[in-house]
Amino acid sequence: MFESLGKWRRTHSCSELRAVDAGREVVLMGWVMRARDHGGLIFVDLRDREGITQIVFNPEVNPDTHTKAGVLRDEWVVAVRGVVNLRPPAMVNPQLATGEIEVLVTELRILNTAKTPPFELEDFRVDISEALRLRYRYLDLRRPAVMHKILFRHQAAQITRSYLNAQGFIEVETPILTRSTPEGARDYLVPARLLPGHFYALPQSPQLFKQLLMMAGLDRYYQLCRCFRDEDLRADRQPEFTQIDLEMAFITEEDIYQVVEGLMALLFKELLEVEVSPPFPRLTYAQSLERFGLDRPDVRFGLELTTVTDLVTESDFQAMKEAIGRGGIATALCAPGLASLSRRELDGLVDLAGVYGAQGLAWVKVTDQGWQSPLAKYFPDGLKEKVNRRLKARVGDLLLFVADEPLAARTALGQVRLHLGQSQGLIPEDTYRFIWVTDFPLLEYNPEEGRFEAMHHPFTSPREEDLPLLESDPGRVRARAYDLVLNGQEIGGGSLRNYRRDVQERVFRVLGLSPAEAQEKFGFLLEALDFGAPPHGGVAFGFDRLVAIMCGAKSIREVIAFPKTQKGACPLTRAPARVEPEQLLELGLRLEK
Ligand code: AMO
Repeated sequence: MFESLGKWRRTHSCSELRAVDAGREVVLMGWVMRARDHGGLIFVDLRDREGITQIVFNPEVNPDTHTKAGVLRDEWVVAVRGVVNLRPPAMVNPQLATGEIEVLVTELRILNTAKTPPFELEDFRVDISEALRLRYRYLDLRRPAVMHKILFRHQAAQITRSYLNAQGFIEVETPILTRSTPEGARDYLVPARLLPGHFYALPQSPQLFKQLLMMAGLDRYYQLCRCFRDEDLRADRQPEFTQIDLEMAFITEEDIYQVVEGLMALLFKELLEVEVSPPFPRLTYAQSLERFGLDRPDVRFGLELTTVTDLVTESDFQAMKEAIGRGGIATALCAPGLASLSRRELDGLVDLAGVYGAQGLAWVKVTDQGWQSPLAKYFPDGLKEKVNRRLKARVGDLLLFVADEPLAARTALGQVRLHLGQSQGLIPEDTYRFIWVTDFPLLEYNPEEGRFEAMHHPFTSPREEDLPLLESDPGRVRARAYDLVLNGQEIGGGSLRNYRRDVQERVFRVLGLSPAEAQEKFGFLLEALDFGAPPHGGVAFGFDRLVAIMCGAKSIREVIAFPKTQKGACPLTRAPARVEPEQLLELGLRLEK
């Protein structure tokens, strides 16, 4: 039954033919979707990467071909020769790019058969388990909506490359087998057969290599590179993911913002016909925490947080006053019209704040009779008025308060804000709001380890004016670091780097690395800084995250051709897998369990 292509060559893809092509002889190839027999005529939707064309087998056109078509089943692979025919007006399908025409088949070649797929390859089938989809990912990818995301990603990559090329960036590949590049996650290790007991680490990012390229004089580098991080997975995290990574020499933050904003504006215009209008707004880290409770603010909706420490201090509410007395703050938000929330819904918000570490969440319903709230008796009328004024509260609004250690209080209320935004439908669809978050602290205190850690990575430059605080008050040193946030997701981050050896050494020391340890781990970097390192800085974007947001995908797994599950496994190849004892022996490894 199988036939070969012979000399046949495709003339068109399955999404190309239009009414103007009527009468043309064409050759199409693809997969059979929905073969159906209607009173002697056999209709087939023929599908390829680009789309679908209806092909028709008519016994009057060619009886042998018609008979042959009778055996066609879903996912068989065929080539057809035929003539483009205008569909009768009643049969035009406006949903389909090729919906005005059909192809009357004169010759059919059956190139391959197919077993019945384990799930229907129709876009509207959304109830298929992800495990099954990933097990048969090559079939899943045939579904037009799934394929679309891969094609979209390709276009985004090409636009990125041509934009950066035009801006004078040079694409350079950097090693995959390398040393640990600290970005805050666990490393994936690869045993080195030729040096038993030694391991390569897969790069968490090309950070040090791109800095070395600046020291080499490359000036502007970019790469669409794979990064590897062994961390707990979520919808927006994969163990291997792709960055748009770039680095520039002789620049300040403003140069980075300009290049990045230009790239984002181009991507959104070309791919979505959306104007995102640079320059993007900026918030400092401190402002972002104060107003949104988080360092990746979703600015598509209001419900901003307001600090009310001074007002709560005037009240008689002991629990909150004690929290403030211990160095805490009080923060509040006003949710317009939400005084109607039920007791159960309010309890839900209290629980949510608890999940994020707040000791409590207090609520006030603003009614025409004044405050209805467990707090009411602790706030004299004048004070209530002051709070209402500061929060711009009106009758019918709901006020929420958290008093706690500053970060805990803001994080908890920030999460409550996000929850309200989503559950109350306050977030507009198809809206894209970029925002830069700047002036991050250089260091973050880790109470478990009892030492400071780099908030971004150890190569980030402190702000010049904060340098004197580096040893005396490390927690107050601000970094020349920035994140780009889109719709509440961190899509990129970067910084200006330490290009002077003395500064880099001081940062290592504050991070608890002794000179000997710094030499052992990063001696090659310190050495390179001695040979004329230019001022430089850069940024990296989560390419998967960016594409996922642009495609409206819920998870970055949808925009990755062969993603891993939440457990880091590949159901298709069944990686990770056990290996033969001989392989371990060769590597000088023995398994404990
Ligand atoms: P950072 O660690 O912030 O910076 O990473 C940059 C961006 O990469 C994305 N990202 C991820 N995407 C998917 N899965 C993951 N597991 C994952 N982890 C991070 C995020 C993030 O904003 N070398 C520095 C950049 C620099 O300083 O130039 C770096 O890697 O969108």
